Amino acid sequence: MSEQIIEQARQHFADLVGSQLDRVQKMKAAEDWMDYSALKPIIIGFCWGDGIGPIISQETERVLQIILKDEIASGKVKFRTIEGLTIENRVKHMKAIPDDVLEELKACHVILKAPTTTPEKGGPYPNIESANVAMRRELDLFANVRPVKIPQEGIDWTFFRENTEGAYMLGSRGFMAGDDVAFDFKVITRPGAERIIRMGFDYAKKNGIDNVTIVTKANVVKTTDGLFLEVAEEVAKDYPGIKWEGWYIDIMTAKLIDPKRRTQFRVMILPNLYGDILTDEAAEMQGGVGTAGSANIGKRYAMFEAIHGSAPRMIDEGRGQYADPSSLIRAAGMMLNHLGFVEKGEKLNKALEICSQFEKKVVITGRDTGVTGRELCDYILDTMQSPDLDEKYKSYAS
Ligand code: IPM
Ligand code: MG
Repeated sequence: MSEQIIEQARQHFADLVGSQLDRVQKMKAAEDWMDYSALKPIIIGFCWGDGIGPIISQETERVLQIILKDEIASGKVKFRTIEGLTIENRVKHMKAIPDDVLEELKACHVILKAPTTTPEKGGPYPNIESANVAMRRELDLFANVRPVKIPQEGIDWTFFRENTEGAYMLGSRGFMAGDDVAFDFKVITRPGAERIIRMGFDYAKKNGIDNVTIVTKANVVKTTDGLFLEVAEEVAKDYPGIKWEGWYIDIMTAKLIDPKRRTQFRVMILPNLYGDILTDEAAEMQGGVGTAGSANIGKRYAMFEAIHGSAPRMIDEGRGQYADPSSLIRAAGMMLNHLGFVEKGEKLNKALEICSQFEKKVVITGRDTGVTGRELCDYILDTMQSPDLDEKYKSYAS
């Protein structure tokens, strides 16, 4: 019996190694960055998601229709709705992303994606892979960029979470050795680590930030995290004006809530799972995960989303209309920046910051003790369109 299991294990591991060696070859041969300025139309695909997804998407689309009015009219930008990325359709095809939906995604240039349900073992749906994880892999969206800003407390963080490796890449390809022994696999590759670390350093350099923090657990998880740290050391040599430090994820999690220490961090670069956990903690400080957006960036495609899930509990309890759309609206702002509509992105960001951090004329609580997502979006739109937006922002931010 155990001979047979060991043989299966050998085969399983050999397949995993083979798939990762192939992937590394593809990464090395990757094409250049997409140039959006040369495109007409830029096709933006909308996935409305599950749970609170369609509710917060509606508000986000409203914002984009206003902000991109001229570009839509001139044919520079086109919206396209992708219907099939719902949990029902995914379960029907028993696939994280059904084939025809993946084709539709690939026919767009960028994607704005509302939260989708991620099934788990023992839950109400078959345990198919997360649509996020599959999309990040299929479109090679290697950088998950998550900003968290709390200006009054001096917090200005940008997290660069590696998005296609770590504990996630092979998260649905674990191995049960008989009934009692379970394995999962974590993978870090040299080119995979290099591209995310370089992106973080480039961002720091471009924005005049002189320190970068690399977060791992390389003292314990020696092979994979060890390689990540080793690559960081190499890459850092190309950025002589930037100091860098390695921190372990446990103490980093603690220091993020230390008011004396946390303002020193600016750019944090981390493997996938650590980035997942730390960015939820950071977003909570900013006002909750409902306030945080995220950019998933690759060379050919990019996808923008909220950092949170589909909140089925809110729907079950009839609180859907109180869901905070800021997360997805913020993601839309990141999308505008990425596409080169930098001024528009800035404008939206300023409005979001004024409404959620400074002026706070209305408060959203996720229940009927606060305003609805629609009311919050009206407030954001009013602020964004008001002629004294810049002065207002300056008066608060200085
Ligand atoms: C996120 C989410 C996803 C992740 C889930 C939904 C798979 O938590 O984007 O942070 O873990 O990456
Ligand atoms: Mg997460």
